[in-house]
Amino acid sequence: MPGQDANMKNCNLLLLILAFSFIFLLYFFMPATAQAEPGGQCIVCHSREDTMPGLYKEYLSSKHSKEGITCIDCHGAVKGSPSAFKHYNEFISIIVSPNKCKRCHEIEVLQFNESAHYRARELVTKGFGAYFLNHIAGSPHFRENRLKEAPGTNGCLRCHGSDIRMNPKKPGHPTPDTWPNSGIGRKNPDGSTGNCAACHERHEFSIAQARRPESCANCHNREGGDPQYEAYTTSRHGKTYYSETDQMNLNSEEWIAGKDYFAAPTCATCHMSATINMKATHNINERLDWNTLLQHTNALAVKEKCGLPFDIDYDQPKVKSERRANMENVCLACHSSIFTNNFFDQYISEVEYFKEKRLVPGKQLFLAATKVYEAVEGDGYQFFTHSLDYTWWGMCNGNTKAAHSGAAMMSPGLVEQGNGDVASAWYTGFIPQVYGLMKEYEGDKDVGEEVKKAVKELKRVYHKLKKEPLYGPWPYFKEE
Ligand code: HEC
Ligand code: HEC
Ligand code: HEC
Ligand code: HEC
Ligand code: HEC
Ligand code: HEC
Ligand code: HEC
Ligand code: HEC
Repeated sequence: MPGQDANMKNCNLLLLILAFSFIFLLYFFMPATAQAEPGGQCIVCHSREDTMPGLYKEYLSSKHSKEGITCIDCHGAVKGSPSAFKHYNEFISIIVSPNKCKRCHEIEVLQFNESAHYRARELVTKGFGAYFLNHIAGSPHFRENRLKEAPGTNGCLRCHGSDIRMNPKKPGHPTPDTWPNSGIGRKNPDGSTGNCAACHERHEFSIAQARRPESCANCHNREGGDPQYEAYTTSRHGKTYYSETDQMNLNSEEWIAGKDYFAAPTCATCHMSATINMKATHNINERLDWNTLLQHTNALAVKEKCGLPFDIDYDQPKVKSERRANMENVCLACHSSIFTNNFFDQYISEVEYFKEKRLVPGKQLFLAATKVYEAVEGDGYQFFTHSLDYTWWGMCNGNTKAAHSGAAMMSPGLVEQGNGDVASAWYTGFIPQVYGLMKEYEGDKDVGEEVKKAVKELKRVYHKLKKEPLYGPWPYFKEE
C-alpha cells in the first residue's frame, strides 16, 4: 500500500524533527540549569563514565539522590575551614563529619552523641587500651618512624576511630596514617566526634542495609575480640534471619518489630529499632543494663573486675533503671513475658557463674602474684612483662566476653567456648604459673623482707582458695 508508505515516511520525518528539537532544547536548557547550581556541576562531571562511575551509581541508587540532595550538600565546605580545598569552582571537603548530616538529621546525631559509640576512641587513647596499642600491639621502638602507626591504622583505629589529620603540604588532603578511616568514634578535622558512615555505607545510605546484622559485623567480631556477630549467627535468631531474610521487610519505613516484620530480630531490632511503644534510637546504650550486667565493654571494669593496674577517666554513660525494661520490651513483640523473664534469668546466671567461679578467685590470685613481682622488680615493674599477665588478661577479657556475649545473644556454642577456654587456661596456664612463682621464691633466703612478705601472702591466698569447695582443690592440676 503506497499511500500508507508515504504517510509512514512523513510520520518518521516529523518524529525525527521532534527528536532533534528535543535534544536541542535539552542541550540548551539542561547544562544551563546544571551550571547555575554548584550541586548540578558536581553531577555533570561525576556522572561521567571515567570519573569514579561506581561511586556515582551507588549515589544514584540512594534516597538522597531521589530527594535532590547532591554531592555538595555533604561535601561542600567553607573556605578556610581545616579540611577545605578548592575543587574546580567550589570549596569542598573529602571528610564528611556528623556535623554535615546534622543539618538534616539532628535527632540521630544528638542520640549518637549520648552513646558509647561516640566515646569509642577513648578506649584506645587512655588507660589499658592506649598501653596495649603502644606497647603490645604496636611498638615503642618505632617512635619517630612511620611504621609506628601501622598497627593502629590498620587495626584498632579502623573500629575505634582515628584522629584525622591534614597533610600540611596538600591542603584538604588527609594523611595516609589517619584516613581512609571509618571508625565509629573518629575525631574529625572540624572538631566533631563520631562517624555516621561507620554503619551507613556510602553512597547508598540505605536503611535496609543498616538494619542487617552485617552492618555491625565489621567491628563486632571475634577477630577483633568482640564476638557478638558470631554469637548472633549461631543463635536461633540468626538461623531464622538467614533462612528467612526475604520475609524481613527491611525497606519498610518504620520497621516495627511484630508489626512490619516478625521472622527474626537483627542486632538493630534489639539495640536500636522501633517497637510498638518505643521509638528507634541511635543511642545503643538506652537498652543496656549497664549497672549489673555490662562488664567488659566498660574500660573501668578492666580495673575493677580484673584488677589490671590501669586507671581510665572514662565518662560512663548515665545508668537508668528503665534500660532493662527497654530491652524486654523488644522481646515482648515476639515472645511471652514468662519466656522473656526466664531467659534473662538464664543469662544472668551465666554472668554470675563466670564471675564467682573464675573472676573472683582469679583476681585475688592475680593481685597477690602481682605484689610478688612488684616486690622483686621494684620501680622496674611493668604489666605485660610476665606470662601470667597475658594468661589472666586472656581469661578476663577474651574468654569472659565469649561467655557473656554468647549468653546475652543466645549462642550456646559461644558460651561453651568461653567456659571451656577459661577452664583450660585456669588449669594449664594460670594456676601452674601462680604455683611456679610461689615455688621460685619459697625458701629462697637471699630475697628481701618485702618479697618474703608478698610470697607468704600469695601462699595464704592460694591455699585458702584451694580449700574452698567452689574453687579447690584444683583437681586437674598436679602440684609437684
Ligand atoms: C570538571 C569536572 C568536575 C567537577 C565540576 C567536580 N568534580 Fe569532583 N572530581 C573530578 C575528578 C576528575 C576527580 C578525581 C578522581 C580521582 O582522583 O580519581 C574528582 C574528585 C573528587 C573528590 C575526591 C577528592 C580528590 O581530590 O580526589 C571529591 C570529594 C569530589 N570530586 C567531589 C566533588 C564535588 C562535591 C563537586 C561539586 C561541588 C565536584 N566534585 C565537582 C571531577 C569533577
Ligand atoms: C549524604 C551525604 C553524601 C553525599 C550526598 C555524597 N557523599 Fe561522598 N561521602 C560521604 C561520606 C560520609 C563519605 C566518607 C568520607 C569520610 O570518611 O569522612 C564520602 C566520601 C566520598 C569520597 C571519598 C571516598 C572514596 O571512596 O574515594 C568521594 C570521592 C566522594 N564522597 C564523592 C562524592 C560525589 C562525587 C558525590 C555526588 C555524586 C557524593 N560524594 C555525594 C557523604 C556523601
Ligand atoms: C541536605 C539534607 C541532608 C543531608 C546533609 C543528609 N541527608 Fe540523609 N536524608 C535526607 C533526606 C531528605 C532523606 C530522605 C527522607 C527521609 O527518609 O528522611 C534522607 C534519608 C537518609 C537515610 C534513610 C535512607 C533510606 O533508605 O530510607 C539515611 C540512613 C541518611 N539519610 C543518612 C545520612 C547521613 C549519614 C548523612 C551524612 C553523611 C546524611 N544523611 C546527610 C537529607 C539529608
Ligand atoms: C574489629 C574491630 C575492633 C578492633 C580491630 C579493635 N577493637 Fe577494641 N573494641 C571493639 C568493640 C566492638 C568493642 C566493644 C564491644 C565489646 O567489648 O565486646 C571494643 C572494646 C575495647 C575496649 C574496652 C574493654 C574491652 O576489652 O572490652 C578496649 C580497651 C579496646 N577495645 C581496645 C582496643 C585496642 C587497643 C585495639 C587494638 C590493639 C582494639 N581495641 C582493636 C572493636 C575493635
Ligand atoms: C551503629 C550503627 C549506626 C550508626 C553509627 C548510625 N546509624 Fe543511622 N541507622 C542505623 C540503623 C540500624 C537504622 C535503622 C533504624 C530503624 O530500624 O528504623 C538507622 C537509621 C537512620 C536514619 C533513618 C531514620 C528514619 O527515621 O528514617 C537516618 C536519617 C540515620 N540513621 C542517620 C544517621 C546519622 C546522621 C548518623 C550519625 C550520627 C547515624 N545514622 C549513625 C544505624 C546506625
Ligand atoms: C565501626 C565499628 C563499629 C560498628 C560498625 C558498630 N559498632 Fe558497636 N561498638 C564499637 C566499639 C568500638 C564499641 C565500644 C565503645 C565503647 O564502649 O565506648 C561498641 C559498642 C557497642 C555496644 C556496647 C555499648 C556499651 O556501652 O558497652 C553495643 C550494644 C553496640 N556497639 C551495638 C552495635 C550495633 C547494634 C551495631 C550495628 C547496627 C554496631 N554496634 C556497629 C564499634 C562499632
Ligand atoms: C534478641 C536480641 C538481641 C540481638 C538480635 C542482638 N543482641 Fe546484643 N545484646 C542483647 C542483650 C539482651 C544484651 C545484654 C544486655 C545487658 O546486659 O544489659 C546484649 C549485649 C550486647 C553487647 C554488650 C556485650 C557484652 O559482652 O557486654 C554488645 C556489644 C551487643 N549486644 C552487640 C550486638 C550485635 C553487634 C548484634 C548483632 C550481630 C547483637 N548484639 C544482636 C540482645 C540482642
Ligand atoms: C522479631 C521477633 C523476635 C524478637 C523481637 C525476639 N525474638 Fe527471640 N526468637 C524469635 C524466633 C523466630 C525464634 C526462633 C524460634 C524457635 O526457637 O523456635 C526465637 C528464639 C529465641 C530463643 C531460643 C529459644 C529456644 O527454644 O532455644 C531465645 C532464648 C529468645 N528467642 C530470646 C529472645 C529475647 C531475650 C529477645 C529480646 C531481647 C528476643 N528473643 C526477641 C523471634 C524474636
